[in-house]
Amino acid sequence: MKNLKPIVMAALLAAILSAVSCTNTSVNSNNGTVSNSAPKAQTDIPNRKWWKEAVVYQIYPRSFKDTNGDGVGDLKGITSKLDYVKSLGVDVIWLNPIFASPNDDNGYDISDYKAIMKDFGTMEDFDEMIKAMHDRGLKVVLDLVANHSSDEHEWFKEARKSRDNPYRNYYHWWDAEKGTPPKRKSFFDVNGDAWKLDEATNSYYLHIFSQKQPDLNWENPKVRDEMYSMMKFWFDKGVDGFRMDVISFISKDTTYPEMPAEFNGDWGRFYMSGPHLHEYLQEMNRQVLSKYDIMTVGEIGATPEVAHQFVDEDRNELNMLYHFEGVSLGYLPDSKKIIDPAGWSLVKFKEIYSKWSDSFAEKGWGTIYLGNHDQPRMLTRWGNDTPEFRDPSSKMLTTFLLTMRATPYYYFGDELGMNNIKFDKIEDYKDIESINWYKGIQKEGGDLKQFMESQKIAARDNGRTPFQWDETENAGFSTGTPWLKVNPNYKTINVAAEEKDPNSPLNYFRRLVKFRKENPILVYGNYTLLDKDNESVYAYTRELNGKKLLILLNFKDKEATVNTGLDLSKAKVILGNYSTPSADGKLKPYEAVIMEL
Ligand code: GLC
Ligand code: CA
Repeated sequence: MKNLKPIVMAALLAAILSAVSCTNTSVNSNNGTVSNSAPKAQTDIPNRKWWKEAVVYQIYPRSFKDTNGDGVGDLKGITSKLDYVKSLGVDVIWLNPIFASPNDDNGYDISDYKAIMKDFGTMEDFDEMIKAMHDRGLKVVLDLVANHSSDEHEWFKEARKSRDNPYRNYYHWWDAEKGTPPKRKSFFDVNGDAWKLDEATNSYYLHIFSQKQPDLNWENPKVRDEMYSMMKFWFDKGVDGFRMDVISFISKDTTYPEMPAEFNGDWGRFYMSGPHLHEYLQEMNRQVLSKYDIMTVGEIGATPEVAHQFVDEDRNELNMLYHFEGVSLGYLPDSKKIIDPAGWSLVKFKEIYSKWSDSFAEKGWGTIYLGNHDQPRMLTRWGNDTPEFRDPSSKMLTTFLLTMRATPYYYFGDELGMNNIKFDKIEDYKDIESINWYKGIQKEGGDLKQFMESQKIAARDNGRTPFQWDETENAGFSTGTPWLKVNPNYKTINVAAEEKDPNSPLNYFRRLVKFRKENPILVYGNYTLLDKDNESVYAYTRELNGKKLLILLNFKDKEATVNTGLDLSKAKVILGNYSTPSADGKLKPYEAVIMEL
């Protein structure tokens, strides 16, 4: 409370906003929305921001819609399906990288930051797409892959020519005559080694990801300038924000110290987040971000304490980040996503998401997601993809994502209840992560059977199979051979089928998005976890201006009872995923209920 002026301004703005957003909902259907749910006065919501109130819909362009029959989704395909996206009620589209790339890691290896990937189309297609998005009131967020480029980028091609090439310093080198470089870990290297010897100049270069993804040297001001000018290029084209790939890795301690004794595999703490990280993000904010009305979200594995250094308003760095604590649950530590035979505990799950929610109660802002292009399908991982429970469990997870106090990042296809494809053979996988981990385990003589079983749950390609539009060949995704197999269940799980059913997961998602958009309590209201030791039910309230909603989610395939300590006798059921929602705290398998208290 240093300064009165912004507060007065905020109050004024809030008053204006409340006048336009106090809508009453009266949608009704079997398991639909009822009644009066918007809070009356919103004058005391401080710090309102469009990106806090947005629902982000992530599209993996390679798998959305192919218009020229080459089996690869393209920008024209996205443009052709914008009415569908708009019909979902979402506000922001996040696209995975669409820039020129040899696709060693599906676009996360960029060879030209200001050009469109040939597979995806042309700059003209891009201009048309963004116009079509803005015409519909949709915003677009692109993926900023700034930690590394492709080895086929002109900068790297130059850099590797000679030790005194003007671009040499755009990357990180270790001259071989100094001996073997200190151990650094690569996520995608078969041997896990982040240093690759480049014969031409007898030096190693650093690659935290694949050998074709050399790390850019952010300690060099020229690299930072290149990145900022590239960002401006896209903002000037009207882009509404960036999702920043592994952004906390950009600064490195270039003396490359050996890891300290307490290191114990904690790469994030000891080597990824280098000494100048926050200085660079603040510089980026000053020079670029602050000049536009855009949103930013960093991919940052962090604790809540560390997260505040990135997203608190007074830090002037980023708006949001997404963490990995939730989605890592149920894997063995420091593993190649090997499933923990002990399973995962809902009590722990609740503890993690509550801790993160609470940590942003006063300052900063969070995100919530269960699926993305690096994750398997949320239905398989966190719900239940058997025919019996697909429907309720996918709706239950949707309810969770849209009722938490954070900006939801919803992954395309989850609204249909798409699930993991579960490949049996390594040959079916196209993802460098799966393929190189397989090779690494094979080399070490490790347990390949256990790995392949775990991949059925955990592999990234599970979340990358083509989008299921209808029951025609290849799910209406492509007339050619899709780059990755289509899930055989597309005959019944698809947009066309679900459009016809008012109670489909698709229509439930639309209802939930609408409900969230009409009820700022779901965005800004206080979050309180109830019955925290309940092993089946996730229960919480959201509260704003004297209004209170109760959300009950049964995460198990059996009936369960929740003990909220609240008097439910006068509670009104607002919405649920069964045609007759439970009103007494006794929940059917995977039941989700929202009540007003
Ligand atoms: C991020 C991306 C992932 C990619 C990696 C390397 O984690 O989300 O898809 O493989 O960075 O760029
Ligand atoms: Ca195509």
